[in-house]
Amino acid sequence: MKWLKRIAILLVVILVGVQFIPTDINQQDYIPKADIRYIYDVPGNVMNILQTSCYDCHSNNTNYPWYSNVQPMRLLMDGHIREGKEELNFNEFGNYSQRKQKNKLDRISKQVKADEMPLPSYLLMHSNAKLSDDDKQKIINWVETRLKQNE
Ligand code: HEC
Repeated sequence: MKWLKRIAILLVVILVGVQFIPTDINQQDYIPKADIRYIYDVPGNVMNILQTSCYDCHSNNTNYPWYSNVQPMRLLMDGHIREGKEELNFNEFGNYSQRKQKNKLDRISKQVKADEMPLPSYLLMHSNAKLSDDDKQKIINWVETRLKQNE
């Protein structure tokens, strides 16, 4: 049983060790001028859904849960935020070209329809971010109206 004890000790050392990995902080205490809410007249109910369900990974301001202080959770989160913002940043929407804005709107509706966003792993810990059928319809309707206006 000696090896079992060694493995256990090794695991503890690794778990303690990873707590010291440097982390990113994605926080900003103001809403930038390029935020989607200032670019389009986003209805309040749609804006609420986006903020609750999407802004943690698609903006410059993440609402960190307590376990974000625990590794390896934070590493996972940092990765999602980095990748999510690269693909779509609601805070910087106004800096995108017209073409890119249209394309992103279209992608939003597609991702929501296909239940691909918010990421399923995120929903495990954020049940309040889960989109109801009604939420999805609100986003999709808004995007469709928006795209028609842009034509
Ligand atoms: C837990 C983090 C997280 C949340 C919350 C989240 N996303 Fe994402 N999103 C990502 C990541 C990571 C990617 C890039 C990788 C991928 O496509 O799976 C992405 C990609 C996307 C893309 C693809 C962009 C493109 O051009 O193809 C869209 C659109 C999108 N998300 C919309 C949303 C919407 C709308 C919500 C809220 C209803 C949302 N996301 C919530 C992490 C997240």
